[in-house]
Amino acid sequence: MENKTLIAPSILGVSEENLNLVCTNLINAGSDLIHFDVMDGQFVSNTSFTGKEIDIVSALTNDSIIDVHLMVNDVKAYLDRFMKKHVKLLTFHYEATYSQDINALISYVHDKGYEVGLAVSPDTPIEVLKPYLDKIDLALIMSVVPGKGGQKFMPIALDKLAYLAKEKKEHNYSYLIEVDGGINNETCEEAKNAGAEVLVAGSYILKSENYKERVDILKR
Ligand code: DX5
Ligand code: ZN
Repeated sequence: MENKTLIAPSILGVSEENLNLVCTNLINAGSDLIHFDVMDGQFVSNTSFTGKEIDIVSALTNDSIIDVHLMVNDVKAYLDRFMKKHVKLLTFHYEATYSQDINALISYVHDKGYEVGLAVSPDTPIEVLKPYLDKIDLALIMSVVPGKGGQKFMPIALDKLAYLAKEKKEHNYSYLIEVDGGINNETCEEAKNAGAEVLVAGSYILKSENYKERVDILKR
């Protein structure tokens, strides 16, 4: 039986005063996860959530539905800041870790009781993730250059998704395959066909008046 696609709306750009209403509506629309894009102004030039916004979303649910995407250099500091109630996954970038021990970071997140993801930007070859595929809970393929929403899907992501799907099948790995950036009613088809299991979508869902309709389109 085929697994169902999970939908993770990105709430990047939602103001703090609107978070409660927007996230309530996203949850009611059948979202599986809420994707939190965290930017430090260094790994990417923009800045976003500081950590306290998690509490607003956390109060809306009894489930661990928060999917934290750390686009930051100081991974350990931000992991600590975002290890909060109802956080399911904490994902950091391979490119941010040149001076940090990836295996130690993975163990650190697991020891604290959270799932862990590794992300790669469009320019990074997917093979760099190979040594970690047996340890992670999620692999995140960026289909845009990290830093802002509303960009165009980059097809370079498709081969990476296919690589992850092949490795997962061959070795019976358990990680979820997530794709992030430029996902809409058209690009979702290619991404799913290539192997994506979790679709992050910002503008496509959030710019609509009808979240449920958009979530349903991405799921089918
Ligand atoms: C980009 C972020 C994405 C992005 C998604 O740095 O990681 O999550 O906001 O937004 P859309 O779907 O608009 O590309
Ligand atoms: Zn993201």
